[in-house]
Amino acid sequence: MPINKNIYVTLPTLAPLNMVMELLEGVWSRGIMTHNGPLVQQFENEVAAFLGIKNIVAVANGTIAIQMAIRALELKGEIITTPFTFIATISSIIWEGCMPVFVDIDPETLNIDPEKIEKKINKHTCAILPVHVFGNCSNIEAIDAIAKRHHLKVIYDAAHSVGVQYKGKSVFEYGDISVTSFHATKMLNTAEGGACFTLNDAIHEKLRSIRFFGFDKDHKEIIDDGFNGKMTEVHAAVGLANIKLLNSALKDRKQKYALYKDFLSQNSVLKFQKIHEDCNYSYFPVIFPSESCLLDVEKALNQKRIYPRRYFYPSVNTFTHILPYVEMPASEDVAKRVLCLPLYYSLGNDDIKNISKIVLDTLK
Ligand SMILES: Cc1ncc(COP(=O)(O)O)c(C=O)c1O
Repeated sequence: MPINKNIYVTLPTLAPLNMVMELLEGVWSRGIMTHNGPLVQQFENEVAAFLGIKNIVAVANGTIAIQMAIRALELKGEIITTPFTFIATISSIIWEGCMPVFVDIDPETLNIDPEKIEKKINKHTCAILPVHVFGNCSNIEAIDAIAKRHHLKVIYDAAHSVGVQYKGKSVFEYGDISVTSFHATKMLNTAEGGACFTLNDAIHEKLRSIRFFGFDKDHKEIIDDGFNGKMTEVHAAVGLANIKLLNSALKDRKQKYALYKDFLSQNSVLKFQKIHEDCNYSYFPVIFPSESCLLDVEKALNQKRIYPRRYFYPSVNTFTHILPYVEMPASEDVAKRVLCLPLYYSLGNDDIKNISKIVLDTLK
């Protein structure tokens, strides 16, 4: 079946516009646009209830959530992290005056390899900041054990992980702080947005203060070194409408992921991320045998107006204009061979079949 429309790697999951408009009418009539208004509070409560989590601080975006986490834990020095991630993980560390130290990934899970972490720990190390890549949990048990042994803090970059469970509870309940993104491309979106999660009530209070310029609870005195991390009422309205779709969006992704996997498993040269069952299937990364193979497939798809994306290419340790180069063989290799195929709520099963056919035909 010919494809006669542009198909991008993702499209936002959007509730009917009238649901957002109803919420916005309330915003307009109250005249409260921001400053932890009623919709932000309601959004925080609904996310917490949906995911079964204790503490949440909704913020302006996922990048600022990472910066706030670093600030709330008062980190100084080296932070161990992964080179197979989006630049925001690294730039947040640098913007907070810390030094990212890369540890290579496990080429099967695409997450930081815990076995390589301890070699990079020294007296300057203050924290570990793993990413649950494509919503697939890092080896939390191993990472938390290392952190405990060396008295290090842990921040999980769970930008891709809304709806992900680890050992029967939300993945956001792990680490000293977990952070997520509610960017338009994520499982739950507020257009731009993010959040910090922690089980520690004192850190929770500190995050709330940092989000609001460092003010105390009554917004009278400055008690912390804060900035403006606030989510607006308009963004919370979008989130409150979209959260109604979250259950069906999660189910839909899982079914579409399985469909792609079924089709593409016909060719054994294609490899897939080794995932936990309780992930959210939010991306469909394919690991090609070589970069040239990937480029051939990308070109064939582009010719049919299908636009997959090379998340995360190139490996962040190769950004020498930001940091000195340190070789990360697994990440550099995998980054050249991973292509994320289109996957989103309104993508049809026929589209998945067509895309898979183009991939398979190109590899013949
Ligand atoms: C792994 C990772 N961390 C952090 C971020 C930053 O999130 P945001 O775009 O909401 O600032 C992203 C964004 O996509 C991401 O992929």
